[in-house]
Amino acid sequence: MNKAVKTNDSQPASLPLGGSRRGLLGDLGVILSEIKHDKLFVLTDQHTAKLCFPLLANVAAIKDAGQIVIPANDTNKTLENLAHIWKHLTENGATRHSLLINLGGGMITDIGGFAAATFKRGIKYINIPTTLLGAVDAAVGGKTGINFEGFKNEIGAFYPAEYVLISSHFFSTLNHEDILSGFAEMLKHALIHSEAEWEKLLLFDAGNVDYDWLTEAVFRSVSIKEHIVEKDPFEHNIRKALNLGHTIGHAFESFALESEKPVLHGYAVAWGLIAELYLSHRVCGFPKEKLQKTVRFIHQNYGALPIDCDDYEHLYEIMKHDKKNERSSSINFTLLANIGDIKINQTADKELVFQALDFYRDSVGL
Ligand code: GLY
Repeated sequence: MNKAVKTNDSQPASLPLGGSRRGLLGDLGVILSEIKHDKLFVLTDQHTAKLCFPLLANVAAIKDAGQIVIPANDTNKTLENLAHIWKHLTENGATRHSLLINLGGGMITDIGGFAAATFKRGIKYINIPTTLLGAVDAAVGGKTGINFEGFKNEIGAFYPAEYVLISSHFFSTLNHEDILSGFAEMLKHALIHSEAEWEKLLLFDAGNVDYDWLTEAVFRSVSIKEHIVEKDPFEHNIRKALNLGHTIGHAFESFALESEKPVLHGYAVAWGLIAELYLSHRVCGFPKEKLQKTVRFIHQNYGALPIDCDDYEHLYEIMKHDKKNERSSSINFTLLANIGDIKINQTADKELVFQALDFYRDSVGL
């Protein structure tokens, strides 16, 4: 299982278990000396090549590393770009003992992780996520892959990084929307974990971000995910908890993309949480006041994806396809009986899913 090193460049008064005071460059130096390797390669996208790669340049080992650059954005998580990475590794003498560093958001850690999983049947790699969403979700837990034939993450492997090096340095460079997008996954982790964590996160002021507070919250969030992945790395049971908000959230995300008004993943998850907490209330008795408090926070921070009732059938079809439930008359969900009380493998029929979409629209004033 991968180890997350939470390296804090803003030096808060206290650090969580597993945290380090060496800072990003110090940690990277130590990790690179710990992992035996012959050649080192760094994968970036065009943005992180310019904005983030120079930050690593002072680490001695990075000076001799090969740099692989691919275009940014999830639409480029393709077979062609995967082949480009393989080609670069082959042409530059990479062996089974070479090491890859993925420096970027979820797209880079997903495709880079899959390149590492498949090159010479598997080489070691390190993730250095540069977005909040990447840090709290994609970089941690070993899911790697590419999109294929129009389907997201259609081809991939479970193949964890040796280390995930999370640095607070990058968070302060992110815009408001990217912070909120990552924060939605943190809210999901809090909901599946504990009331105490959920209460803390509802205090988040997105208009006036306290980066030390956010960094501490990120470290706690990553630990929540790590504990779940440790128990069930291949998603046979409890890892399904991490799908909370995602069944309806993915449908919102695909719907927005089809309408050529794409939304950030975390925004779709936040709206999906509204609908799936409603299902949690109806199916598992999730408390109403906690539903209302969470809904208020999401609406205030994330606004709304406009949908109307004519869109329900199509959204439902997307959910059925996504969950490979085409033949069934109901859809599988991960729901909650309370905060921290996870109920996997729950079902809701079409009528109830439509009621959840009604609740979503009422909650966000559509
Ligand atoms: N993104 C959910 C998971 O890693 O299982």
